[in-house]
Amino acid sequence: MPLNEQLFDFKEYPKDVLLKDGSVVVFRPTIGQDRKLLVEFFRSLTDRDRRYFKHDVANPKTINKWCDELDYDLVLPIIALKKNGRKTRIVANGSLHTEPQGWSTHVARIRFQVHPDFRGLGLGQAIAAELCERATMRGVQKLQAHVRADNKDVLGLLRRIGFRKEGIFKRHAVDMYGRHHDVIIFWQDLEDFWRRMEDLQVDMDNPGCFP
Ligand SMILES: CC(C)(COP(=O)(O)OP(=O)(O)OC[C@H]1O[C@@H](n2cnc3c(N)ncnc32)[C@H](O)[C@@H]1OP(=O)(O)O)[C@@H](O)C(=O)NCCC(=O)NCCS
Repeated sequence: MPLNEQLFDFKEYPKDVLLKDGSVVVFRPTIGQDRKLLVEFFRSLTDRDRRYFKHDVANPKTINKWCDELDYDLVLPIIALKKNGRKTRIVANGSLHTEPQGWSTHVARIRFQVHPDFRGLGLGQAIAAELCERATMRGVQKLQAHVRADNKDVLGLLRRIGFRKEGIFKRHAVDMYGRHHDVIIFWQDLEDFWRRMEDLQVDMDNPGCFP
């Protein structure tokens, strides 16, 4: 099915996003045909990055399963693409996890990762802002991020954009060596988020570029 038909609900995509160094990446929701690029993206991350992920993203079976079971109502994955000559690669990946039924339909979770070559350019902030925007459009009021306590990079970014600690799941994650780690629950009221973006003078058309 052509991209535009699959993305009928997302007329603003593909969307150009300007980074701090003046380069441009393109955001759009993931489609099934992205599996090869996604496998390459996750394989190109360092072991240090991958150890923080909940799922075994180095295994193509994990990515294939995500691509086979795409359901934007449950999980909305957004990728950032960078074109270099004739080659296009994924340079960041994010996802918004919503609850379609029950007493927490106003709550959602986000996850995101940026390729090491593209860090420090505002891309992490831009993809987080994109997920917040889509969450707001879906009527989400409260956003959460579940982060392993030793993942300092993500903790730094979440704090910067206004997420606060809500609680801790003790010894909740087990790494490949059998060690247990606490998982911190961060949360954000989306109305506060938009106020904070205004305070930081973030231009939402170019959320990676802030003063
Ligand atoms: C965290 C991550 C997304 C940051 O991406 P990024 O594109 O480099 O972030 P940005 O350039 O948008 O940074 C925005 C702000 O976040 C904070 N930040 C980013 N990286 C940070 C770090 N290593 N330590 C502390 N704060 C950091 C800073 O406040 C930064 O603002 P500044 O540039 O004005 O200092 C990236 O390091 C990453 O993908 N890490 C691995 C992801 C991961 O483990 N995900 C697992 C579960 S979600």
